[in-house]
Amino acid sequence: MLYQNPRGIGCDKCHGIKGNGKIIAKYKEKGKNKYLKSPQINNVSKELFFKSFTIPHKIMPKYFLTYGEINTLYQYLQNLKKIKKGK
Ligand code: HEC
Repeated sequence: MLYQNPRGIGCDKCHGIKGNGKIIAKYKEKGKNKYLKSPQINNVSKELFFKSFTIPHKIMPKYFLTYGEINTLYQYLQNLKKIKKGK
């Protein structure tokens, strides 16, 4: 629930429903096709995951989540990955 509604725009909107990352937008620059992509976030370390909530981003919005909530999001994505692998 938190993943799709983290008191702000849902993580799934940009990182995909399973956190695999996806193309957020397509645009053209000087006649070339460009893509705005979000990174895969179900394979990052716990450290990086937490860090991404404390550093400023260019595109990703700022969230005001507690340690427990960020931890929940992290575990959620790890579990999704396990289910997919059939473990
Ligand atoms: C508006 C789109 C958008 C939303 C919403 C969003 N992100 Fe992101 N996220 C990005 C982009 C783009 C990056 C790449 C860094 C940058 O440019 O900000 C990123 C980077 C990250 C990273 C670092 C990954 C890496 O490999 O460096 C993590 C972890 C992350 N997001 C988790 C989340 C979580 C969890 C949520 C929901 C609470 C969320 N994001 C919501 C767009 C988004």
